[in-house]
Amino acid sequence: MKHFTSVHDVDDMNEWLSLADLFQKDPFHFSEAGKGKILGLLFLNPSLRTRMSTQKAAYQLGMNVMVMNLDKDGWQLEMEDGAVMNGNAQEHVKEAAQVLSQYCDVIGVRSFPSLEDRAADYAEPVLEAFKKYATVPILSLESATRHPLQSFADLITVRSLATKPRPKVVLTWAPHPRRLPQAVPNSFVEWMKQADVELVVTHPEGFELAPEFMGGVTVTHDQKAALSGADFVYAKNWSAYEPYGKTAPELTDWQITSEQMALTDNGGFMHCLPVRRNVVVSDSVLDSPQSLVIMQAANRVISAQVALYKLLQGG
Ligand code: CP
Repeated sequence: MKHFTSVHDVDDMNEWLSLADLFQKDPFHFSEAGKGKILGLLFLNPSLRTRMSTQKAAYQLGMNVMVMNLDKDGWQLEMEDGAVMNGNAQEHVKEAAQVLSQYCDVIGVRSFPSLEDRAADYAEPVLEAFKKYATVPILSLESATRHPLQSFADLITVRSLATKPRPKVVLTWAPHPRRLPQAVPNSFVEWMKQADVELVVTHPEGFELAPEFMGGVTVTHDQKAALSGADFVYAKNWSAYEPYGKTAPELTDWQITSEQMALTDNGGFMHCLPVRRNVVVSDSVLDSPQSLVIMQAANRVISAQVALYKLLQGG
């Protein structure tokens, strides 16, 4: 595996899940695997879980970690080849990625979408530029269209708690006052397709996800029908794919409350965090035994540790 930016970089999912089991039982099993290696983490956007869990995972593999808030502490980067750099950008990613490759053995990058230009966001300009110009593996810490470390942690969570051979997993849109990316739901769908689950996606009309992620997925606009008998409920807001970036905070009846959870088969509540209480989900659900959000966050260490271990192994 040269880079880890999506589920498509996973050659053998069974091996990844076996490694997850191994790190769950023995976090220091390969504590020498990253000895003498440096992980660089570059953030162009805020983070709590990704930043800390990936550092912890790296330490457990024996790596050292350097973190940079590139948006605040670095030079503004130009991503476009051939650009005449007479604007705000002081440094081209061509040099920056090659320079960082002199200091780091793996580079993690977080870069959110603009939500202004769909074609530009879906082309993943930041991630693709780092993949093109860095000479070391790139680890996605959430890109414009995907969040693979989160989705792998979610898969680990579902797999470890499922009590049925083929649990029903529902991804539901939820309201939010701000426009949010489609990365988490895109990625969640992509990873759940690799699992033996009955996946149902529910959202209001107009909040369809990108067709390249949704092929073969059951979709309904009836949230209550979707939640009926669910074993896992994954709530997430996303802004619209078409018209790109549109949102609908007024659709408050899409919030996940105890009433909605009562429709499930004692289902677990999932969210990637951070979450807005009593907007996306009620206190009564988030504070209930059905909430799995802390476990999901704990599993972020395991997902990062597996991905880093595989990158260190070169495949
Ligand atoms: N879920 C997640 O990626 O959290 P952070 O944005 O805090 O890293």
